[in-house]
Amino acid sequence: MDNFLDQLTKDNEIQIILDDQSVEAKERNAFNPPLCNVFRKPITRLQDRKHPFFIDPEAKKHLPDMINNKVQYIINGDPDNFEATQQFNKKRRIGIAFSGGPSPGGHNVIAGLFDAAQNANPDSVILGFLMGLDGVMEKEYVELSKEGVDYYRNIGGFTLIKTGRAKIDSPQKIEKARQTCKELNIDSLVIVGGDDSNTNAAFLAQELKKDGVQVIGVPKTIDGDVQVRDDNGEVLCAISFGFHSAARFYAQQISHLGSDGSSDVKYWHVCKVMGRVASHIALEAALQTHANMTLIGEDLIDYVDKKRLAASQAKNEIDFDAYGVSLEKLCEIVSRPIVRRARFGKNHGILIIPEGILEFINEIQTLIIKLNIVIAHFNMNNESDFHSYMPTLNEKLEYLNQISQKGGRYTIWRPQDNDFFNTIPAFFREDLLMERDNHGNFPFSLVETERVLMGLVEEYLDELFKKGEYKMGIKRAYYDKILKKEGLSPQIYGAILFQNYNDTQVPLLMKKNIICEKTLRLALIQGGKLTDSEKISPALLKILKKSIPKFKTRLHFYGYDGRGSNPTRFDCMYAYNLGHAVFSLIANGATGQMAAIKNLEKGFESWEPIGIPLAPLMHLEERKGKLSLVMEKSVVDTASPAFQVVKRLRERWLAANESPECYRKPAPIRFTGDTEEDRPMTLLLNGSDYLKSILDQS
Ligand code: FBP
Repeated sequence: MDNFLDQLTKDNEIQIILDDQSVEAKERNAFNPPLCNVFRKPITRLQDRKHPFFIDPEAKKHLPDMINNKVQYIINGDPDNFEATQQFNKKRRIGIAFSGGPSPGGHNVIAGLFDAAQNANPDSVILGFLMGLDGVMEKEYVELSKEGVDYYRNIGGFTLIKTGRAKIDSPQKIEKARQTCKELNIDSLVIVGGDDSNTNAAFLAQELKKDGVQVIGVPKTIDGDVQVRDDNGEVLCAISFGFHSAARFYAQQISHLGSDGSSDVKYWHVCKVMGRVASHIALEAALQTHANMTLIGEDLIDYVDKKRLAASQAKNEIDFDAYGVSLEKLCEIVSRPIVRRARFGKNHGILIIPEGILEFINEIQTLIIKLNIVIAHFNMNNESDFHSYMPTLNEKLEYLNQISQKGGRYTIWRPQDNDFFNTIPAFFREDLLMERDNHGNFPFSLVETERVLMGLVEEYLDELFKKGEYKMGIKRAYYDKILKKEGLSPQIYGAILFQNYNDTQVPLLMKKNIICEKTLRLALIQGGKLTDSEKISPALLKILKKSIPKFKTRLHFYGYDGRGSNPTRFDCMYAYNLGHAVFSLIANGATGQMAAIKNLEKGFESWEPIGIPLAPLMHLEERKGKLSLVMEKSVVDTASPAFQVVKRLRERWLAANESPECYRKPAPIRFTGDTEEDRPMTLLLNGSDYLKSILDQS
């Protein structure tokens, strides 16, 4: 065997084929993402500029040394200024940790920071903390080498130093972090993470200030929910790194299903895409693929059942259930377009659902919040945690049943909550009771949302079928051919069978009451074309069969695969420049800031690296059953041009007509090349003045 391995390495061609690193990976490694102009200068400096933010009094109280931080623009420094140059090029020991889920481009943040630090002073050291913030608390780290960094340049994942979901959120944990920084003689700590991790960075910056340790955050998450605007609406951070790559990856997979589905014409492909709560990824995937239907959670929240509202208003009452979407309403929202496509003979299609959709459904959102509180209270008041104490579903249900009877401090879980909970399928109840993460977040990606939803939609469609509303449209030419083959008159039978026989513009729709052989027989007898003892002709049975839709789904989850994909050229460049921005902030003495690149929606020449103050972004939110100061998540703005475009093109992309599908095929993820969409489409549309003006007029 060893001999065989030896022989393999002797042939160059075979060696290339079997190399662990593909040719593309090597080319990726060799790619030097372009740098913003300012980072090509010998030194940079920071310029404070006024941007208004609403300051939460609690943030002022808890982050007193950070709250007055300003937005800092990274601009050219003066290389002739001896003191500034000395300070910029000083030898440094910088620690960096990833936090939360992987996001394509992470390695480039490290590479950018590493290159900038080494350029400024080759004796500077970058320490990579292992497994996220646990590495900081446990002093688990590696000193990053050029070789290690080079191997992962422009490559996806966080493989070099791994990641984790730990939080430094108690005095003891902060003490551990402080100790690590002290023992390793670290002068600055970089936390690359989402909203929760940047919240952590703000508090650590406050706590470690007196130790002289600077803390800088970096906006990471495929979810795209770390976005910052000032109070005037000026965009400071349009999107986190990794969003573009993950959305492009999902969009590509979905577009392949478009090709398969429109060839095989028998499945509705239901594609759940990651993105915890916000639907940014689903929106981007819709723009990239023109899927037939895309649910956007934030859109459902705005839903108003006008009929229901009017009915209650007529009685001088307000029906609050008319606002927002119930599970039943959601089933209707999904089912109606399916029915409409079927009328044109299309019993297939592509449906995109964001993984957090359930968060936007009235009853489910209430259940999740209530269960979050029940679990958090249990954990606060008992030595053992909820899930270890009650490992089985039955034990948990029994506990919920008990507290629903108690009242008193458990009024949050009332008998009616318990009763409703028990009407839900067992697997879904188990999902809703799953363990929350360290931040108290509900694990949406582990819930089989697509199974829950499509199970209910199937039942709903079945009801519509029984009512005669869900039918396959039949082409007139086909009907004529089949009947004529058996010597039957299409015209005579047409009037008996179809609800729209005289309308020659649309496919034929079987009458509502004809849904099976029995009802067909009845219709033929009533139409005088069959007697009790006669058999129905095979041609008519064939037409009946053709009119009955077979609703078949294939469920897909696009999540971890896209999170680990290689970065697009946009993310390679964005993350690499973020790494440089981090260094500039550190070298110029900043702390409690999040590195960002302004004008991402514009061409690369317009990119402006900045530091955004974290403390003013903090506000109070319910977490783990109590109010906490956290950075706000950005969800899809339904007034934004990107959403409005999707909304207005919905009907076209649904293609509930005889026209061909509008599916779009996005280019594959590449770090180079002319055909690539070089920025997220959401950003391009939201940044378009032309679009804003035509939307304003309409
Ligand atoms: P971050 O917010 O940490 O970037 O993670 C985002 C995410 O990928 C979500 O889209 C998804 O819901 C979640 O992580 C999955 O978490 P886990 O890795 O714990 O399964």
